[in-house]
Amino acid sequence: MAEMRIGVLTGGGDCPGLNAVIRAVVRTGHRVHQDEVIGFLDGWRGVLEGDSQELDEERCRGILAVGGTILGTSRTNPFAVDGGPEQVMRTIACKGIDALIAIGGDDTLGVADRLGPMGLKVVGVPKTIDNDLSGTEVTFGFDTAVQIATDALDRLHTTAESHHRVIVCEVMGRHAGWIATYAGIAGGAAEILVPEVPFDVDEVSERLRRRHAGGRFSSIVVVAEGAVPSDPVIAADATAISSSAPVDQFGHARLGGIGSWLAAEIERRTGYEARVTILGHVQRGGTPTARDRVLATRFGVAALEAVHDGAFGTMVALNCGDIIRVPLAEAVGNPKTVDLHLYRDVAGPFMG
Ligand code: F6P
Repeated sequence: MAEMRIGVLTGGGDCPGLNAVIRAVVRTGHRVHQDEVIGFLDGWRGVLEGDSQELDEERCRGILAVGGTILGTSRTNPFAVDGGPEQVMRTIACKGIDALIAIGGDDTLGVADRLGPMGLKVVGVPKTIDNDLSGTEVTFGFDTAVQIATDALDRLHTTAESHHRVIVCEVMGRHAGWIATYAGIAGGAAEILVPEVPFDVDEVSERLRRRHAGGRFSSIVVVAEGAVPSDPVIAADATAISSSAPVDQFGHARLGGIGSWLAAEIERRTGYEARVTILGHVQRGGTPTARDRVLATRFGVAALEAVHDGAFGTMVALNCGDIIRVPLAEAVGNPKTVDLHLYRDVAGPFMG
């Protein structure tokens, strides 16, 4: 007789390390507690539609190093569907689920938090390459995205140097500049532009001109997909290109394109040949770094233990090297923006 019947889902954008969490939940559940684990497919969609599969150790064999999620994911929001929250609660009851582990970012865990008062026993696991979730020092997936972006910058340096070009590299991160800042520091970028600090395209161009006049004949500019020019008129022009109408059930616009706009503007102002590389989903795909595998595994084990301790309505989180539990409400609704000390005082002196 199983000790508990535990549901698990992965929601939002996929992220390297999701499978490591699933594997940790299933293994710890089976080996330590004799739990049954049920995976809901495609995030909250699977819960809404009762679409699930039993997860055993066999199903989780060999997935530790595999990117993506064996459960699939979606940006389905039960609160955007008529009667959605009630349907979620019906599925949980029908399937005999004692508790749910939701692996996601702000949107997925925001839903989990809102379902708590309706009676859902839920524990959250913080996931996103963007690292913009509050309550935890870091989310799993971030390290991998930074490593991929850094590798790309290393490669862009040699081609930029050979052609004496400015190369603008656009990275993901939504409205937070974590990936841009970390990869920009690690990859030796001449400019790092983040959403938290609007940039002046004339000043960026002037700094590049000074840099090239000082004997450097190539430059790498890292721009976060959510970065915006400080001049409101120019910003309107740039945002029209880089942000499309709301496309998901959480009302998020799709970002992307500021890099192309910026490269053209730099070329126009400086006369230097400029090119753009938009890294896009490459940053989210493929195998997680060792650091992300370890963190994801620790989060999975901790989430399972939180369920057995009855610590519902919490999210497992990293704090000074330890895994702690924070209220879900503390983690959601208030994105964690980039550390300005890191951006200004550590990255700053290397720019220009
Ligand atoms: O939140 C992760 C993320 O990769 C963001 O950096 C990016 O803006 C967004 O997801 C892209 O979403 P989608 O894969 O739905 O286009």
